[in-house]
Amino acid sequence: MKTQIRLIGALSIALGLLVGCGERPPIDVQQIGYRGTGMEQNVNPRLREQLKAVNQVGGIQPPADASGPLAKDIYQNVQVLSDLSVGEFTRVMLSMTEWVAPEDQKNCTYCHNGENYADESKYQYKVARSMLKMTRDINTNWKSHVKQTGVTCHTCHRGGPVPQYVWYADPGSGRENAFVGTRAGQNSAVTGLGITTIGHSSLPYDPYSPFLLGDLNIRVEGPTALPTGNRRSIKQAEWTYSLMVHMSNSLGVNCTYCHNTRAWADWAQSTPQRTVAWHGIRMARGLNNQYLVPLTDVFPTNRKGPLGDVAKINCQTCHQGVYKPYFGESMAKAYPELQGVKAAPVDPNAAPAETAAPAEATAPAAAPAATPAVADKPKDSSKMAQRGGPTAIAALDAGTPGRL
Ligand code: HEC
Ligand code: HEC
Ligand code: HEC
Ligand code: HEC
Repeated sequence: MKTQIRLIGALSIALGLLVGCGERPPIDVQQIGYRGTGMEQNVNPRLREQLKAVNQVGGIQPPADASGPLAKDIYQNVQVLSDLSVGEFTRVMLSMTEWVAPEDQKNCTYCHNGENYADESKYQYKVARSMLKMTRDINTNWKSHVKQTGVTCHTCHRGGPVPQYVWYADPGSGRENAFVGTRAGQNSAVTGLGITTIGHSSLPYDPYSPFLLGDLNIRVEGPTALPTGNRRSIKQAEWTYSLMVHMSNSLGVNCTYCHNTRAWADWAQSTPQRTVAWHGIRMARGLNNQYLVPLTDVFPTNRKGPLGDVAKINCQTCHQGVYKPYFGESMAKAYPELQGVKAAPVDPNAAPAETAAPAEATAPAAAPAATPAVADKPKDSSKMAQRGGPTAIAALDAGTPGRL
């Protein structure tokens, strides 16, 4: 009798655990690595449908007339969009209103003093100017990550003032000094900011501060099987895993999207996506330090976190659960205005032949200023590249049968 009760108890616990996993079968499996390496993606087709529904590009205005006087010559206080015609400038203003202003204030005065459009007193105006610079910076200097796909304000904002996925320094659960001793930034499923991206694991709950604001070393593995002087601690390894869980969750992928799990550290056995991710880490860190943190005094208190810091960017801010924002569709292509400073307009009468150069060609091709010159930058040595690699996951979207 006792054993029976125990058995039922054990079974219901097991069932409870399974229910906790939350994803019922069937799951689509797509092999992306060499046969036998176990490099595959597990995709829940039902969740994917939901993701598709929420990851749609939106609010694209019809193209504007690039000729005519420049906005900076007509208005008083144009500092960033000084290369745009009045038509293009107005198109950007209309789009920004659509993409960023809150639902109940979809108008120009969300950022502007309606009496005087050159007035800088609203914090939204100051933030928006900085965001314009940031967006152009991403599209010009971070092609190592965003490629030709690029970003617009909508990539993060999706129609509202505060992007859905941002992070603040996490104050913990408030029980750090409780009887059981310090939690040391981990061992807590629920923190002061609610349930974090590490879900219900005991991993450190704030992988962002050390890696996406600071530049702590992410690499923890020793290069040899036996200990030969690798001084990295278990704690450091846990921070790394915590970041990796965030990255996987943000992109909606498994670890094997980037790694061959027999050798996590080895770049030659990793996919090309891992190199893109490497640049993404540097980009997110750069954006937080260059743009968000300097705006700390500009934001009102109600926009800041419990420790007084500004909302900051992580992988989820742009990716929103998908391996490429909007499943790879480029919204920025429709916005040459946000690509970077355009070349000065050419007089159409003087040069009839080659005036219609695509906007992309005018972006500085050489020496991206913001690409960090770090010694351990991975070479794109991935052998997976020759195989087409995990871009095959796109086949899942095209409806190609992916089952093994
Ligand atoms: C998300 C914030 C935001 C919204 C919404 C917005 N603007 Fe702007 N606007 C700015 C910023 C920032 C600048 C400065 C741009 C620069 O320095 O290149 C600006 C500049 C301007 C200027 C130039 C004023 C001058 O004399 O310097 C005009 C005109 C303007 N906006 C019109 C509009 C109109 C019309 C709308 C509504 C359709 C609008 N804006 C919506 C942020 C915004
Ligand atoms: C890489 C992601 C990202 C992109 C791209 C981006 N933003 Fe933001 N934006 C943020 C974050 C993060 C915040 C901070 C959220 C907050 O307000 O607390 C923010 C805040 C703002 C705010 C303040 C809103 C408020 O009410 O507090 C404005 C205005 C804004 N952004 C405008 C823009 C405009 C205009 C663009 C495009 C030119 C843009 N953003 C592009 C991430 C982004
Ligand atoms: C989107 C790509 C991507 C995904 C998904 C990913 N990683 Fe990583 N991983 C990286 C990159 C890039 C680095 C190196 C970061 C750096 O050096 O800045 C790394 C580093 C690591 C390291 C450290 C290796 C060393 O040199 O010591 C481990 C361990 C690791 N990842 C484990 C995981 C695990 C476990 C998962 C799944 C939960 C995962 N990764 C998912 C891209 C990824
Ligand atoms: C500013 C927005 C933005 C942020 C922040 C961002 N990404 Fe991306 N990421 C993109 C865009 C846009 C692409 C698509 C580039 C392309 O078309 O190849 C992309 C592509 C990728 C890819 C290539 C996927 C594939 O299938 O080829 C990986 C991997 C990736 N991002 C990882 C990350 C990680 C990890 C982080 C956080 C450390 C991150 N990204 C942060 C915008 C962003």
